[in-house]
Amino acid sequence: MIGRLNHVAIAVPDLAAAAAQYRDLLGARVGAPQDEPEHGVTVVFVELPNTKIELLHPLGPDSPIAAFLARNPAGGIHHLCYEVADIIAARDRLREQGARVLGDGEPKIGAHGKPVLFLHPKDFAGTLIELEQA
Ligand code: CO
Repeated sequence: MIGRLNHVAIAVPDLAAAAAQYRDLLGARVGAPQDEPEHGVTVVFVELPNTKIELLHPLGPDSPIAAFLARNPAGGIHHLCYEVADIIAARDRLREQGARVLGDGEPKIGAHGKPVLFLHPKDFAGTLIELEQA
C-alpha cells in the first residue's frame, strides 16, 4: 500500500542554523523558509535525489511541534511521510486493522498541497507516520 518515502521531518530549535548546516556542511539543495500557519510550522525543504528532508520549526502559540522540541531541545526526527495512491482507501484499511488515525480522520492539505493524514506513533514502533496522497 505505501509507496515512496516522501520526506523525513526533523524538528529543529534553530531553523536558520539547521538550514545552513544542510546547505554548507552537507552540501544539499536547501530552499527558503515557508510559513505554514494552518499547520503551526515554518518549513525548510531540503531536496535530496531520492527524497526530501523537512526542517520544522514551531510557528505560533499552538504549534504541534512545540511540545516535541520541549522534550527534545536539540531537535530530532519528528515523522516519516509515505506516499499512498488513495488516502481514503488507506485510512479505511488502517482503521479496519485497528490503527489509530489522528485528529478527526479527515485528510488535511499538507505542505505540498496534497491530502495528508497522521497515524498514531504508538501503533507504529514509536514513529509518527504521515501519509500523503501522491
Ligand atoms: Co510531513
